[in-house]
Amino acid sequence: MSEKHPGPLVVEGKLSDAERLKRESNYLRGTIKEDLQDGLTGGFRGDNFLLIRFHGMYQQDDRDIRAERAEQKLEPRHAMMLRCRLPGGIITTEQWRAIDKFAEDKTIYGSIRLTNRQTFQFHGILKKNVKPAHEMLHEVGLDALATANDVNRNVLCTSNPVESELHQEAYEWAKKLSEHLLPRTRAYAEIWWDQEKVATTDEEPILGETYLPRKFKTTVVVPPQNDVDLHANDMNFIAIAKDGKLVGFNLLVGGGLSIEHGNKATYARTASEFGYIPLEHTLAVAEAVVTTQRDWGNRTDRKNAKTKYTLERVGVEVFKAEVERRAGIKFEPTRAYEFTGRGDRIGWVKGIDDKWHLTLFIENGRILDYPDRPLKTGLMAIAKIHKGDFRLTANQNLIVAGVPASEKAAIEKIAKESGLMNAVKPQRENSMACVSFPTCPLAMAEAERFLPQFVTKVEEVLEKHQVPDEHIVTRVTGCPNGCGRALLAEIGLVGKAPGRYNLHIGGNRIGTRIPRMYRENITELEILASIDELVGRWAKEREADEGFGDFTIRAGIIRPVLDPARDLWD
Ligand code: HEM
Ligand code: SF4
Repeated sequence: MSEKHPGPLVVEGKLSDAERLKRESNYLRGTIKEDLQDGLTGGFRGDNFLLIRFHGMYQQDDRDIRAERAEQKLEPRHAMMLRCRLPGGIITTEQWRAIDKFAEDKTIYGSIRLTNRQTFQFHGILKKNVKPAHEMLHEVGLDALATANDVNRNVLCTSNPVESELHQEAYEWAKKLSEHLLPRTRAYAEIWWDQEKVATTDEEPILGETYLPRKFKTTVVVPPQNDVDLHANDMNFIAIAKDGKLVGFNLLVGGGLSIEHGNKATYARTASEFGYIPLEHTLAVAEAVVTTQRDWGNRTDRKNAKTKYTLERVGVEVFKAEVERRAGIKFEPTRAYEFTGRGDRIGWVKGIDDKWHLTLFIENGRILDYPDRPLKTGLMAIAKIHKGDFRLTANQNLIVAGVPASEKAAIEKIAKESGLMNAVKPQRENSMACVSFPTCPLAMAEAERFLPQFVTKVEEVLEKHQVPDEHIVTRVTGCPNGCGRALLAEIGLVGKAPGRYNLHIGGNRIGTRIPRMYRENITELEILASIDELVGRWAKEREADEGFGDFTIRAGIIRPVLDPARDLWD
């Protein structure tokens, strides 16, 4: 279908200002170092405001108190969000102890946010604490390099550590991909770790002097789990095994969820299958995809710059042929694979290595001491006695991994006492929200703070229709940028204005279909009325094991999105 709309390989025209900024940044240095000394403002000035994103930080302010500060003629209360690089979401307990302490001592909110891209963020780091944050990460072998802006960001990997050896191998590839595609500039080490400037000139053989046209996201997926939600990502490697050993990957390119309200030139898109490659070609192919997007991605319009738009403009076959040419390979036909779900298995599971793994459900990924649930203190106590590691999942949960049978009871005791093992229903386990208010500057409606009560109301609807243990993959995202991945949910709410959302339905449980807008700009009450009516029908009319999203399509309640680039907005 995409082949009907070939366009130019390179879009000519006036480059966006972001391109100037990158070119003039001296390989991401800008004047960040000097700016750090400027105590007159709590923020970063000029280009540095955006450049710090390449170093894993966003400048934000507390939107709950913005108006009050303005009235007092004060600048907004600036503080940074800092996001770590954590390929595959694996973090040692030693590292955890360090980040817990930092959150406690040096952030405004005192919390750690597990993100749905398998890493963690600190919110509310004052300017004076920014350098100490990077130093702390360095001391424990972590960094925040390239976790935001126009680079390959944190590489995801299916987080199940237990069921087959494949997961270990897949994780190793996630790490290799992350390292291979990192910026080579020494700017990060010079600015944050005071490392000497090396005399040689910088070079970016893969990303180029002006880096990528837009953010770029990569996953490694081990079927039958699609927990990483591959279709939200630019480049995806689906693990293919033979006799229990990883032999290669299917490559899928060009997924992405961000849209703009009312702008029909923007769309969410599922990734296209390019074909199968044996393992030895993995890095060359990854590099070829990244450099093709680097050279062909639209640098004149950031709203049209992601890989999904490049694919649609030049045609999937043309993009694929270029990747083959650059990598010196031919894709084999895509090998068979199947997904059965996206959720995490909460609770204890025994692994093939005879060790135990405990997946803890963390609502919204927010690790904080609540009055009745000291989650943060509990995890810190586990981190003090646990010798394995922690694994962050793409569902914002945390796995205490590699627990010997002899230590199970002690860990479980702490987890129970601190509310980390409170029973929740499948509906809550399968619900997710982005951060949104108060920290996100782009938020239009509440998400993280709205979700818990909203889920309770959806649970009541399920109960009313006598399907209390069922679930509908439900996600809320505070604006159409889509960080909450609502456009791969069965029920997706996309923030429009305070208290108002667009309601999307018709996605499926395994995350391979984009839901279509069903009602526009409605309130929570209206959303719940729609859900009540639809769940009532689903409960009565569904076929065996038929998910809510599939039902809404089969029953003709909503038309499936088949070719999102063209029919998402119909
Ligand atoms: C134009 C598109 C986008 C922009 C401008 C954007 C911007 C942002 C901002 C400002 C934050 C920080 C919010 C905070 O922590 O206070 C954020 C968080 C995040 N975004 Fe995005 N985003 C975009 C699209 C996406 C998409 C499509 C995804 C994934 C499908 C994504 C994944 C995330 C994740 C994982 C976080 C961390 C917090 C969380 O788990 O919700 N973003 N984004
Ligand atoms: S979806 Fe919008 S509101 Fe939510 S974190 Fe992303 S940018 Fe912020």
